[in-house]
Amino acid sequence: MSKVLVVTSGKGGVGKTTSTAALGAALARAGKNVAIVDFDVGLRNLDLVMGAERRVVFDLINVINGDAKLSQALIRDKRIDTLHLLPASQTRDKDALTEEGVAGVIAELREKFDYILCDSPAGIERGATLAMRHADIAIVVSNPEVSSVRDSDRIIGLLDSKTMRAENGDRVEKYLLVTRYDPVRADRGEMLKVEDVLEILSIPLLAVVPESQEVLKASNLGMPVTLGAPNSHPAKAYTDAARRIMGETIEIEIPTDKRGLLGKIFARKAA
Ligand SMILES: Nc1ncnc2c1ncn2[C@@H]1O[C@H](COP(=O)(O)OP(=O)(O)O)[C@@H](O)[C@H]1O
Ligand SMILES: [Mg+2]
Repeated sequence: MSKVLVVTSGKGGVGKTTSTAALGAALARAGKNVAIVDFDVGLRNLDLVMGAERRVVFDLINVINGDAKLSQALIRDKRIDTLHLLPASQTRDKDALTEEGVAGVIAELREKFDYILCDSPAGIERGATLAMRHADIAIVVSNPEVSSVRDSDRIIGLLDSKTMRAENGDRVEKYLLVTRYDPVRADRGEMLKVEDVLEILSIPLLAVVPESQEVLKASNLGMPVTLGAPNSHPAKAYTDAARRIMGETIEIEIPTDKRGLLGKIFARKAA
């Protein structure tokens, strides 16, 4: 059965788009049929991170408006056959994203794909609530800092009230993805520790992605880090996260300040 995931956070610049691309590529590489959908109308970043900006012809809003078929708008990845991108449009008219339109596109995507990953815009307004509307699973992305964690907390509230699942008396499975984690700064007390973030948000941990130049380097080359630098620490964290999403139980590794050493904590099963 297909699963719809939303990658969400409240705050901007925390790593949602990076994570959508990296997780989507990791799931597709594992043989799953994956669509990644850019809900960030107006900004349109996901196609850049995927290296597909020159291949965008039609987008999500064109499909919603009936100007293009879904199959015309989907861009198949050149590196992994089973990975597809539905880009956002650069239109300023965010109202073009309608409740019924989104429902229709998600229903059609569910027929074709195992995993549909929705890259949410920042904020807690319409765009973010539409991105999460049909989610079965939410990946709540948070940086280890107070403002980001606070915004994530508000997003968790929305996931429990504004989603189809919540309205039907069901629940969205929620997992925490801590990104841009710098163990040295966390040790110095300049950043929150993973335990602190977990305690505040109280949802299960999916993975901790370290702050790393590899992410930026890969993105600049139009590659998700799981493809561009598959042996890097962030890529390993994302690959493990993808395996947990697919139902595997594996240990979660927390980056420590000793180079190359990774602290291990208890395994948690996701999805
Ligand atoms: N683990 C990481 N290490 C270093 N830089 C990162 C990491 N994750 C994301 N970034 C960078 O942070 C910036 C914001 O990331 P992005 O995914 O666009 O965030 P969002 O979609 O939440 O706005 C980008 O420049 C991205 O390359
Ligand atoms: Mg983004």
